[in-house]
Amino acid sequence: MKRVDDFRLKFGKKEYVPIVIGGMGVDISTAELALEAARLGGIGHLSDAMVPEVSDRRFDTRFGKDKLRLYRHNIHSSDKSGIKFDLGALANATRRHVQAAMDSKSGDGLIFVNCMEKLTMNAPRETLQVRMASALDAGIDGITLSAGLHLGSFGLLADHPRFRDAKLGIIVSSVRALQLFLRKNAKLNRLPDYVVVEGPLAGGHLGFGADWAQYDLATIVAEVVTYLSTEQIDIPVIAAGGIFTGSDAVSFLESGSAAVQVATRFTVANECGLPKKVKQQYFRASEEDIIVNNISPTGYPMRMLRNTPAIGAGIRPNCEAYGYLLDGSGGCAYISAYNREVALHPDAKTIAVLDKTCLCTHMRNFNCWTCGQTTYRLKDTTRRLADGNYQTLSAEHIFRDYQFSIDQKVALPPLPESATG
Ligand SMILES: Cc1cc2nc3c(=O)[nH]c(=O)nc-3n(C[C@H](O)[C@H](O)[C@H](O)COP(=O)(O)O)c2cc1C
Repeated sequence: MKRVDDFRLKFGKKEYVPIVIGGMGVDISTAELALEAARLGGIGHLSDAMVPEVSDRRFDTRFGKDKLRLYRHNIHSSDKSGIKFDLGALANATRRHVQAAMDSKSGDGLIFVNCMEKLTMNAPRETLQVRMASALDAGIDGITLSAGLHLGSFGLLADHPRFRDAKLGIIVSSVRALQLFLRKNAKLNRLPDYVVVEGPLAGGHLGFGADWAQYDLATIVAEVVTYLSTEQIDIPVIAAGGIFTGSDAVSFLESGSAAVQVATRFTVANECGLPKKVKQQYFRASEEDIIVNNISPTGYPMRMLRNTPAIGAGIRPNCEAYGYLLDGSGGCAYISAYNREVALHPDAKTIAVLDKTCLCTHMRNFNCWTCGQTTYRLKDTTRRLADGNYQTLSAEHIFRDYQFSIDQKVALPPLPESATG
């Protein structure tokens, strides 16, 4: 019986353990988590979501405060079109975030950064270009393009000295999205180094509509693998979404995938950025607690826990400090929803906004509990402790469990020292 360790992901002559830990914003897939994946010979992801905020928290910088000071006068205005990111500050924050991780890297694996196109930041092209270019400047091993079709993203990097040496990949949820990407980028003469095929059971935003449940990862992966081999295009395919055990991973590796991308199991790792209390919420979730809704202003459905505090929270938009989801003209679906509720309840002290959420604020504060569909199984991967909490696990334990387990088994972590006395 095969296990994941019998396979390798190949980029040119280099080989990697075919386990990729997916990007999880905002700083849920921390540098510490990505570094563990690299140390163990696989691939980890930083997230480039709200990096100036992450830098302020981690490195004591003042990017958020400075931006708020500059635009404080606008807080009560619903016109956010004038709120712009300072591209120099954005580049600094990204370089700092990436450089710190790359300086600590050990092992034979790689560290990539997950770049979401939907972080439009009131200047979509310019900000995306700065984020990607400064990550490359700081030595990131690769960039995974996500949350969008990214038809122009390779073009934004074409003049960068590392355009042909860094690993560049894209996340798609259909063979059509991949075909479109390849067609639009044909003239650059630079194929993606990998394509992540993400199915409907993943965490975060979904590349599907309300009918997501009618799709299944194995079918989409098979379509992509067939398309690439028919066209004789050699790009490793990485399957993602709902792969919970080593055996699940092996079934993809045996049917044409070069690696798997996983995330949900790592949300309860010690190295994961979620606060301890939130990890316990993930452990406690039952299947009915996991929902897909449309409260994200991005327009994509998003999976989250039913009791996520972000649902219904009618806070004032925080675009002066954040503003990461402002479209190219300063709009955001949450601002419109919030203004509508304020107009409907002019005398109310607090209002509820049910259809959209201020995603920047809630992701930053870990109050939007996005998760994969398999979250309800996390409790089966660990032990319940005497105080009623579940034991969190080391990323190494989870990684090795994927790498070596067989027979749909999940290895429990060693007992914590306090329990062994
Ligand atoms: C908490 C969480 C946050 C996520 N955030 C992002 C993100 O910011 N960008 C992205 O492209 N994918 C995001 N994802 C998707 C993962 O990178 C990954 O592809 C997917 O969840 C894999 O499926 P699994 O969670 O069932 O293993 C997120 C997933 C989770 C669980």
